Formats: sequence, structure tokens, C-alpha cells
Amino acid sequence: MKDWINDAPIVIAEGRDCFIKDTYGIWYLDGVSSLWVNIHGHGKKEINDALIKQLTHISHSTLLGLANVPSTELAGKLVSLISERLKTDKLNKVFYSDNGSTAVEAALKMAFQYTQHTKKCADDALFVTLENGYHGDTIGAVSAGGIDLFHKTYSPLLFKTVKAPSPYCFNCSHGVVSSQTDTPSKYRCNAEGEFPCLRELRHILESQGKVAAVLVEPLIQAASGMITSPVGYLKGVRDLCTEFDTLLIADEVATGFGRTGNMFACELESVVPDILCLSKGITGGYLPLAVTIATENIYNAFLGEFAEKKTFFHGHSYTGNQLGCAAALASLEIFEKEHVLDNLKPKIKILRDWLNSIFNHPNVGDVRVCGMMAGVELIKNKASMEPFGFEEKAGWQVAYEARKRSVFIRPLGNVLVIMPPLSISEENLSAMLIRIEKSICGLFHC
Ligand SMILES: Cc1ncc(COP(=O)(O)O)c(C=O)c1O
Repeated sequence: MKDWINDAPIVIAEGRDCFIKDTYGIWYLDGVSSLWVNIHGHGKKEINDALIKQLTHISHSTLLGLANVPSTELAGKLVSLISERLKTDKLNKVFYSDNGSTAVEAALKMAFQYTQHTKKCADDALFVTLENGYHGDTIGAVSAGGIDLFHKTYSPLLFKTVKAPSPYCFNCSHGVVSSQTDTPSKYRCNAEGEFPCLRELRHILESQGKVAAVLVEPLIQAASGMITSPVGYLKGVRDLCTEFDTLLIADEVATGFGRTGNMFACELESVVPDILCLSKGITGGYLPLAVTIATENIYNAFLGEFAEKKTFFHGHSYTGNQLGCAAALASLEIFEKEHVLDNLKPKIKILRDWLNSIFNHPNVGDVRVCGMMAGVELIKNKASMEPFGFEEKAGWQVAYEARKRSVFIRPLGNVLVIMPPLSISEENLSAMLIRIEKSICGLFHC
């Protein structure tokens, strides 16, 4: 905050396509999709038109005890999209909230209550979550988180979870090149052997005996620095959850809606979670909206006589907001009409080629990529693997350099995050990457 006060803040006044303009009239490439939400660019006509049309009907009415037209339509569209992409008709009950954290909060509460209704677990059932995990900033989501920098301060306030190892270990121990990441990491290597993280998860599930659910970010732990999972890990988690009759919650808040090159990350390993959390890109990045989608089986456990009090007592004022749902419907239509996923392929190639080349820089220790989500990990000394200290602000230094070159990026510690709107043109993507490279070279020399 002190740095923010001392700095000249950028105040955004306008947005077009993949650019945002500040109050001085400077246009920046939106290199992080306005915090990983923007899909089709700013000022997209179809989404603007859908919002204007919805405004002429109604902006908001509560979803508590009422339904509304766009939320009903969107729920139907999401269920059929999931059925098409994940090849399942099981995930078909949509619960609305309004941001990624609340989507996860709802999932945790739902899973916990489900275990009570079904008498599967005792009242003290635990959640298994992952080291390096991030699920939002509300207290339940923070309890499930595994990033000390963000979460440790609040530890006296949090409920207990059992932490399983981050899936990052496998990549580095065998130097396995996964389809999600080209370059094996050498800088956070902490385990050897085959899928040691899954072995440890099995051990936890065997020894705990009262687990309400396992919560994961499929394919990539984004907020911890774009940590990509080895191929097969997600499927392995699904298999273990099935074996131990434990719910699997997939937090696709960051990965959902095309970010990984697929509509949903779970598609890549043919995994069907019991609960799926979506937000961020759901409205194309225009309005806050989230869904927690559960199987019919979970839904049925909440059915009962009024006096049984099986109600899921969770509702937010703006749950299922009509404007958000109208934007989401328009966004899904654009996905189809503009073949957004197909158009991503050459852009993903540009990104991966660039990552492979920037990996040669002496201050780039690792590069990680999953579709259009990429991280460049800066390192002080490549030979000795000495990292930059926290106080050196290496990531921020490069981000400030990038601003001088009209690119807005926001790092995670020493990791530069590159996640532009999916609609970015190949030309603008290449231009952005060149400018980021110049920013790295401007600081550390090439
Ligand atoms: C995987 C994941 N889950 C949940 C969240 C929280 O979303 P929100 O910031 O909308 O509360 C985030 C945010 O970055 C995320 O990456």
C-alpha cells in the first residue's frame, strides 16, 4: 500500500478489445485479462447489447424463493455444455453465487452438509486440500488454501484441513514433459519416484477415514505461480476419490471457459468431478457471477420434509443476477459463433514458442504453460538456482518495465503471469510477448 501511495496509480477509464486506457489516454495491453476474467475483449458488442436488452426488462430480482429468466436459461445451457464437454449427464444442478470465492465456499458447505445428510462422515469430517492451492479470499476458501504468503496470517481463524502435496513434484523429478508444460521445472523440485503426490494422497485418504471432499485446481495451480500438474495426476485424484467414496470438488474458477485451450480443464483427463466451481470467465469478464454445479446425487440428499431442515442455507443478495446471467449467455454464444476454442490453437503455439525461447534467458529459471495460462519464473542465478529474494520484487520490477512499454501484467512473486484475453489477435499477442521480453532484458540485460 505504501508503494501504491508513492507511485502514480494507473486509473482505467476505457477498454477496447484487449486494451485498457488510463485517464492520461495511454492504452495498455491487458496482459492478465483484468485478473483472468476477460475472454472476448473489452467492449464486445454482443455482450454490451445483451446487457442493454436485459436492462430494459429488469436488472435484478432475488433468486431466494424466486427464479428468473436468464438464470434459468443459463443453468440449462451450462448443464448441456458440461454434458457435451465432460461427457456426463450427472453434473446437472446449478447453484448460483457471485464470485470465485463464494463458488468454493458453497461447494465446501454443500459437501460438508451432504456427508451429514448421507451419514457418510461424522460431524468433524475434514477436507483434503493441496499445498500451493488457492481458492479465494473468504475464510472458508482461505482455510482450503495452501499459500503461506496469502493465508498464514489468518491461521487462527481457519478450520482445519489436511494438506496433500502439490502435484508439482512429479514434473521435476523425472523431467517428464507433459502436454500441458514443455519445460520440466528445476527450481521447486522436492520429491522423487512415480506420482509421489498421489501416493501421499492415498495415504491421507486411508488414514483419515472421514474426508468430506478433496478440493483441487485441475491441471494448474494458478495463483501459486502457474504450477502445472503432470499428465494423469487429475485422473489419479478422481480414481482415488472414487475408491475411497469421497467427493471431488474441481475449482475451475481460473481454468474454466477456454483458458486451458479446452472449455473446461477436466476435459483433458476425462474427469467428472462431483462438484464443479466456475466463475471469472463465465460472463466473459463483464460482471461478477459464479456457479457451483453438483451432481443430481448430491442434490437429492438435500430433499426432505420441511421439518427435516435439509435446506442448504446459503444465499447471497445478488445470487443469479439477471445482468450477469445475460452477459454469460451472450459469452457462450460468442464461443460458438466465433469458434473461440479452435482459434486459440495458433495463439497457444505462439505463446509456447516464445516461452521456449525466453527459457534461455539467464534470469528465467522456469516457464510453465497450460493453454493460454503461462508463468515465467525469474531466477537470480540460473547456475546455482538461487532465487530472487521477496524484497527484491523481481516480478514487479519487470511489470513496471512492461508498463513503460504499454503492457499491463501483474506478477505472482517472482513469476510473471501472462494471461491475455482469449480474443487477443496473433499480432497483438506477439507484440505483447516481445515487449515483455524487452522488459526482462531492460532490467537484467540479455
Ligand atoms: C482457482 C481459483 N479459485 C477461486 C478464486 C477466487 O475467485 P474470486 O477472486 O472471484 O473470489 C480464484 C481467484 O484467482 C482462483 O484462481
